Amino acid sequence: MTEDWRQRHTALLGALAASGELPHAWRSAFAAVPRHRFIPADIWEQRATCVPVTTDAAWWDLVYRDVPIVTQVDDGQSAGPGIATSSNSMPTMVARMLTALEVADGQRVLEIGTGSGWNAALLAARLGSQNVTTVEVDPVLAEKAAKVIKDAGYSPDVVWGDGARGWESGAPYDRIIATCSVRRIPYAWVRQTKPGGRILAPLAGDFWSGALVRLDVGGDGVASGRFVGGARFMPMRSERPRPESRWTAEPVGAAVPAPFPPRPWRASVSPSTRARNCRAWSWPTEQRTAGIRCGFTIGMGRRPRSPRRRCGVTAHAGCGRRPPPCTRRT
Ligand SMILES: C[S@@+](CC[C@H](N)C(=O)[O-])C[C@H]1O[C@@H](n2cnc3c(N)ncnc32)[C@H](O)[C@@H]1O
Repeated sequence: MTEDWRQRHTALLGALAASGELPHAWRSAFAAVPRHRFIPADIWEQRATCVPVTTDAAWWDLVYRDVPIVTQVDDGQSAGPGIATSSNSMPTMVARMLTALEVADGQRVLEIGTGSGWNAALLAARLGSQNVTTVEVDPVLAEKAAKVIKDAGYSPDVVWGDGARGWESGAPYDRIIATCSVRRIPYAWVRQTKPGGRILAPLAGDFWSGALVRLDVGGDGVASGRFVGGARFMPMRSERPRPESRWTAEPVGAAVPAPFPPRPWRASVSPSTRARNCRAWSWPTEQRTAGIRCGFTIGMGRRPRSPRRRCGVTAHAGCGRRPPPCTRRT
């Protein structure tokens, strides 16, 4: 792996900038943090299944293509079915999410899902290592990421833990960004975000491939916002489909963007492209009833007035127990 990478790196950044995905504010961070430094020797290309990359030439080719790269299968166990369990996300998606985060100098960010460490290093290059914390559930990945991030010259807090709980000791944060998908926004994230701060996360359910939700946290402990595009990410570890369902039949894992920004919802029936007409919401602790703490509504333009009022809600992602089924009224 001794190839002169500069030309490929420059070409990738040029393509991201030309497509409008890499705004000026992020260019120097991306220039300073080349992707290949975060890609291990053993990688897989995500096709219908994960295909191992076996030559140097193929490795370099994949690393500087605008595609996700699988960096771990089967939680690192050998002789598994070859399911992607960690990946380095597609550069376009990384740039989109960092842009949607709208960070400002001096802000503090928590990332959920360290993976290869590339995103955390980009955040550290942009905001300073002291302002970045990243949580990874897999101890081996966390350790490897901490090392490659350090080798690249950055020193954010890389912690091993369950990101569903956020990372309390570093809170409060100005921004929380998740790079694994969740069915519901954990309320811990809302609690650990400063009033006026923002949460950006891919939401996904059993029957739809995922959408990026951007929530602004108010002083009343309510986070509300909108879907800002499609995003297909591997699920948070505790939310993986059970072995008897999709998990073994259909590989999940790499971050693959859907059309962004979403087309008007009438143009398509897929949840990610109906996103413009969706709202994500959550309730302050004292208002939580029946386990409903936050969720999203599809098909109505405003947040329901109270957790009890669910008429017109056509889909839910609740933070606590699943809310009772809703009546479709469109
Ligand atoms: C798509 S990868 C993240 C990509 C990463 N941000 C990068 O720059 O390479 C998703 C990661 O989320 C991690 N993950 C899954 N569940 C998690 C959890 N509960 N807490 C923290 N990390 C989790 C996975 O182990 C995986 O490494």
